[in-house]
Amino acid sequence: MRDRQPATRVMMMPRDTNPAGTIFGGVILSYLDQAGAEGAYRGGAHRVVTAAMKEVVFHEPVFVGDLVSFYAEVVRKGRTSITIRVAVEASRRWDRNEIAKVTEAEITYVNVNPEGHPVPLPGGTDRRLEGS
Ligand SMILES: CC(C)(COP(=O)(O)OP(=O)(O)OC[C@H]1O[C@@H](n2cnc3c(N)ncnc32)[C@H](O)[C@@H]1OP(=O)(O)O)[C@@H](O)C(=O)NCCC(=O)NCCS
Repeated sequence: MRDRQPATRVMMMPRDTNPAGTIFGGVILSYLDQAGAEGAYRGGAHRVVTAAMKEVVFHEPVFVGDLVSFYAEVVRKGRTSITIRVAVEASRRWDRNEIAKVTEAEITYVNVNPEGHPVPLPGGTDRRLEGS
């Protein structure tokens, strides 16, 4: 079950827009990475780097003034890597009760030592946790 406490939540500002006037995908990617890292820390990692962002899907646009929540869920723990699914929901500016599932992604982080070398995760299991 996904932790309903968001890993991060942010209100989108005019500076975050693309030339079309909606929120720039790169801004969402940055928050996705932050939220996934928070999910990795909640999952037991101590110091992580991002190894891979798998399929990122932008389902719906995000608008200035939307309150955007990034929910993180551990889907796999390997020996040194941890994979987090991040689901993004926008509470719309014009009606906070209107919630849109705007984006999702799966991101793999590697637990590293201060020199940047992979080190084992506490409780690493090397199995997919999804659906368990
Ligand atoms: C991520 C990084 C530490 C992996 O180093 P490496 O020497 O290739 O590590 P290894 O081959 O021993 O793999 C370590 C773990 O990472 C996983 N991994 C490595 N590359 C991966 C990839 N592209 N996708 C998913 N997992 C990957 C391995 O499966 C392994 O997981 P496991 O221990 O749970 O089985 C290294 O590539 C790196 O520092 N990359 C840059 C990270 C960075 O700066 N990110 C910020 C973006 S600029």
